Amino acid sequence: MQDLVANKVHDETRQGEAFAPFANDENQYNKKFYIESYGCQMNFSDSEIVASILQNEGFGATRNYEEADLVLLNTCSIREKAEQTVRKRLTEFRKIKDSRPGLLVGVLGCMAERLKSKFLEEEKLVDLVVGPDAYRTLPVLIEEAETGQKSVNVLLSREETYADISPVRLDTNGVTAFISIMRGCNNMCSFCVVPFTRGRERSRDVHSIIAEAQNLFDRGYKEVTLLGQNVDSYYWIDEVNDEIVTFGKLLEKVALVSPELRVRFSTSHPKDITDEVLLTMSKYDNICNYIHLPLQSGSTRVLQLMNRTYTREWYMAKVKRIREIIPDCGISSDIITGFCTETEEDHTDTLSMMETSAYDMSYMFFYSERPGTLAARRYKDDVPEEVKKRRLKEVVELQNRLSYESNKKDVGKTFKVLIEGNSKKSDADWMGRNSQNKVIVFPKENYNYKKGDYVFVKVNDFTQATLIGEVVKEL
Ligand code: 5AD
Ligand code: SF4
Repeated sequence: MQDLVANKVHDETRQGEAFAPFANDENQYNKKFYIESYGCQMNFSDSEIVASILQNEGFGATRNYEEADLVLLNTCSIREKAEQTVRKRLTEFRKIKDSRPGLLVGVLGCMAERLKSKFLEEEKLVDLVVGPDAYRTLPVLIEEAETGQKSVNVLLSREETYADISPVRLDTNGVTAFISIMRGCNNMCSFCVVPFTRGRERSRDVHSIIAEAQNLFDRGYKEVTLLGQNVDSYYWIDEVNDEIVTFGKLLEKVALVSPELRVRFSTSHPKDITDEVLLTMSKYDNICNYIHLPLQSGSTRVLQLMNRTYTREWYMAKVKRIREIIPDCGISSDIITGFCTETEEDHTDTLSMMETSAYDMSYMFFYSERPGTLAARRYKDDVPEEVKKRRLKEVVELQNRLSYESNKKDVGKTFKVLIEGNSKKSDADWMGRNSQNKVIVFPKENYNYKKGDYVFVKVNDFTQATLIGEVVKEL
């Protein structure tokens, strides 16, 4: 669930992007909010819920914090570095508050949940602290904060899915959008803080998901990504149609909105992705052939300490099954180096698993102990930092080679590509993605294509991160 730049070493997935909806909207409101989002795609999606709630309260979004009445940081706790980045940013805003006493600053998301009122103990750092399940109470909390009270709501919920709130699409390209289908996580991977900051897993009403996909399609969007910490455990009892909706069924229903609407999803847990999901993917052309399947470690012993509940062999069999059912499936991964007790042999196991899985792309991290997690309580963070970093470097170098090899194999092939916008480097080129989620750039030439069109592109060249091609008539 990430900004899919190939082979990024993740400190934070995306850092502090500020967004606002269409410029025209900015003048309709008398109060303005500015929001920066950090971390995973779920946070970016949550910011769109927050924007919707604030818009109903008369707040318009702005990209310029200097004209904002309310500044919000939607934060990430996944690694220590992510938290440090936010802290630094908050100190910058504290300085701004000194010269603009009316300005309210709020912390949202995982750091708010983890640190709770600790933020308020620090003089003038923030006025509002709001956890991921408490966004509906933002209007009341803002009102309290406006009267000079410090306001906090970090209650986690077993039910909240914001199903009825129509997200305000922020910083949108008008072609691709995210739909949150579930919240929280029950998995308890021992390194991970998410179960503590986002609470118990719960699925969103299937009807509201389909309605959101249909609405996006009606507004010209051509691709939706179904988002959740663990999408494969989606489960909804649909009393209206007397039906149990699994993730496979949900995928099918979204795919049926229109063959012109591409469907992606993230993130899958290797233990939960089923044949039903894989067979549904192979049945519908518009469900993209791409799976983000985090490995974390290639050593069965480490996987056990991580509480991932699968072995190296089990993961390998899963990759084999994916390739049997969807031969051209793109697969990416998350890898952690230097988890507690990791030996050189364990590390070698990770490298060999990466090679066997032949990932197209990976997000790679070194282990960062998070307070309160199972690992922090049970195990010693005993791999020295320089060893963690050296292993990370090796993992990155291997992934660079695997990505290069994967792209090389695509030369000469033709892909159906959805145009997302101009290429970053040149307005004379389009940028889009193929089903496998690879970025392809190609010259616009004299063709009459526009953003949101599907085109066939033949690959002529490549870099480690990008395919380079030209438009052709057909596959
Ligand atoms: N240290 C390093 N990486 C972590 N991740 C989660 N928790 C930690 C941690 N404590 C990584 C995992 C996960 C991704 C979103 O972040 O690889 O899949
Ligand atoms: Fe964290 Fe594991 Fe849940 Fe992912 S599946 S959010 S890594 S606990």
